[in-house]
Amino acid sequence: MRGAVVVVVILAAVVVVAALPPRNLTDPEVNPGCEECEEPWLVVTAGEGANNTLHHLWGAKETLSFLVVAGTGGPNVSVDWDALRNGTNRSVTFQSQPSHVFGFVIPSLILYNDPKDKGAFKDQNESLRVPVSDFTWSAEVLPRSPHQVAVKLQTTHFQDTPLPNKTRILMQVSAYGEDGRSSVLPHLLYTPNSAQLDLILDHFKLNLTEEANSWNKTRWGMDVVVFSSEHKAEEEDGDFGLKFHTQKSLDDEHTPGVFNLDQLTSAGARAGDEAGGYLQWRPVSYLTSDRDISEATIPNLNTSLPALVNLTEPLRKSLAYAVMGDNLTLSGAAVTSIISFGQYKDGYYEAENYTTWTVAIGEGEPPKETFSTLVVVVISLGVVLPGAMFLVGCMVLAVRRWRRHSSSDSILITAE
Ligand SMILES: *[C@@H]1O[C@H](CO)[C@@H](O)[C@H](O)[C@H]1NC(C)=O
Ligand SMILES: *[C@@H]1O[C@H](CO)[C@@H](O)[C@H](O)[C@H]1NC(C)=O
Ligand SMILES: *[C@@H]1O[C@H](CO)[C@@H](O)[C@H](O)[C@H]1NC(C)=O
Ligand SMILES: *[C@@H]1O[C@H](CO)[C@@H](O)[C@H](O)[C@H]1NC(C)=O
Ligand SMILES: *[C@@H]1O[C@H](CO)[C@@H](O)[C@H](O)[C@H]1NC(C)=O
Ligand SMILES: *[C@@H]1O[C@H](CO)[C@@H](O)[C@H](O)[C@H]1NC(C)=O
Ligand SMILES: *[C@@H]1O[C@H](CO)[C@@H](O)[C@H](O)[C@H]1NC(C)=O
Ligand SMILES: *[C@@H]1O[C@H](CO)[C@@H](O)[C@H](O)[C@H]1NC(C)=O
Ligand SMILES: *[C@@H]1O[C@H](CO)[C@@H](O)[C@H](O)[C@H]1NC(C)=O
Ligand SMILES: *[C@@H]1O[C@H](CO)[C@@H](O)[C@H](O)[C@H]1NC(C)=O
Ligand SMILES: *[C@@H]1O[C@H](CO)[C@@H](O)[C@H](O)[C@H]1NC(C)=O
Ligand SMILES: *[C@@H]1O[C@H](CO)[C@@H](O)[C@H](O)[C@H]1NC(C)=O
Repeated sequence: MRGAVVVVVILAAVVVVAALPPRNLTDPEVNPGCEECEEPWLVVTAGEGANNTLHHLWGAKETLSFLVVAGTGGPNVSVDWDALRNGTNRSVTFQSQPSHVFGFVIPSLILYNDPKDKGAFKDQNESLRVPVSDFTWSAEVLPRSPHQVAVKLQTTHFQDTPLPNKTRILMQVSAYGEDGRSSVLPHLLYTPNSAQLDLILDHFKLNLTEEANSWNKTRWGMDVVVFSSEHKAEEEDGDFGLKFHTQKSLDDEHTPGVFNLDQLTSAGARAGDEAGGYLQWRPVSYLTSDRDISEATIPNLNTSLPALVNLTEPLRKSLAYAVMGDNLTLSGAAVTSIISFGQYKDGYYEAENYTTWTVAIGEGEPPKETFSTLVVVVISLGVVLPGAMFLVGCMVLAVRRWRRHSSSDSILITAE
């Protein structure tokens, strides 16, 4: 009996996962309406829902910026290209004032020498920051499917010199129109309100300084700034601002060998309001294009998350500032962090010269990992079968006992 109850509860939990209403995605446009933009400053795609529109904005202007903008009132975006070039706030506007904005920015890469093989970038004193603006980027819109659009962004030049053939940062950014799970490892969940970024540091060896060229235990990291337009002051329950948490999942069916799910959420996303947003990723960074767990390392996020205080020059010229303006520095609006790739004994970056990071960015509450059908079936069999056998066993015993009871006279008679 108990087995059956457990199964019913599990099935209910699986069924209860509500699907979000789908959206029709517009084709991504690179620098719509700009004649003299040489780099992908703004890639925009709109997801039109029954009642509202949500925009995905991606761009490589000065920094890498990825934004989800909700409640934009329609598919049109107006860009004042001169103002965007100058780094003026509010140069990107929508048909109506967005209800909320969530996003993150990568202003620079960090190369660090890790002689003690600690993995994460923490207090290593040999490090160098490489501004994202030192790279020249190209964008290519990939063929679309009904519920997915994608863009490939990659570096072509570093400090105006062409990069060697294989050396590049390669990113595929996708937006989705329905619920599902990415076909590429680590198979993150997506929703009609989310996008995914798959970033690859491929043969990423740069000629930076003589000192850096002498480092022989190097790893890569990145500065990140995560922001949300809900810049609420401290609330009564104290749950405000952006927070990191990691969640143990029960099975690793979709991402072999990885049982954790890392998330950075805004207060609105945690509360389940239709507000704010999240970053969600599996703590795995593949070291080969096969994406096998046997050759993988860890993306380490510095989780102290200090608030963004000053707008640095790159941030001020970024797409994030173009949309958010000075609201970026409001209390609780933005935090800074570092994500660095490495783990003890992984052989440093040079072991494979390849590192990936895949992260989902979305509006509202993050999708929850649930039991997969296979796991439900296995648990059901594991619980129901023994339960059923126990029940059958009991019944057989009961029937036998009853029979013996009722026929005891005849047994005695035949015995005589
Ligand atoms: C998406 O497009 C289809 C066909 O054009 C249309 O029937 C449907 O209503 C649209 N859905 C939304 C949410 O706009
Ligand atoms: C759209 O709005 C109408 C009225 O405001 C509401 O009845 C309907 O449920 C909404 N549809 C969705 C998909 O949110
Ligand atoms: C949106 O853009 C289209 C095509 O450029 C235009 O026809 C339409 O009037 C615009 N809508 C609004 C509300 O600005
Ligand atoms: C952008 O900068 C140029 C020169 O610095 C200036 O002439 C122009 O007025 C500025 N435009 C805006 C929209 O601020
Ligand atoms: C970094 O620290 C190590 C010891 O931890 C020291 O040997 C080295 O000289 C330092 N390097 C610099 C550039 O300060
Ligand atoms: C880079 O590619 C170009 C054209 O594909 C080729 O001509 C050149 O030899 C390559 N350079 C290196 C260093 O492989
Ligand atoms: C690295 O750059 C320096 C000067 O910027 C140059 O002299 C050197 O040849 C370069 N090294 C390589 C391997 O390209
Ligand atoms: C790596 O660098 C350290 C310090 O500069 C040096 O002692 C060591 O021999 C180097 N290792 C290799 C394999 O080059
Ligand atoms: C922010 O800027 C102010 C003035 O420009 C400076 O005094 C302060 O040290 C800066 N704070 C940080 C954290 O960089
Ligand atoms: C900035 O914050 C103010 C005050 O909370 C708000 O009224 C305004 O809409 C925000 N601007 C943007 C671009 O989000
Ligand atoms: C935009 O910048 C101007 C001048 O720097 C400032 O006065 C204004 O408050 C800013 N607006 C927003 C929404 O950040
Ligand atoms: C990675 O690159 C370094 C030099 O940049 C090279 O020595 C090393 O062999 C490369 N590793 C692989 C696996 O290709």
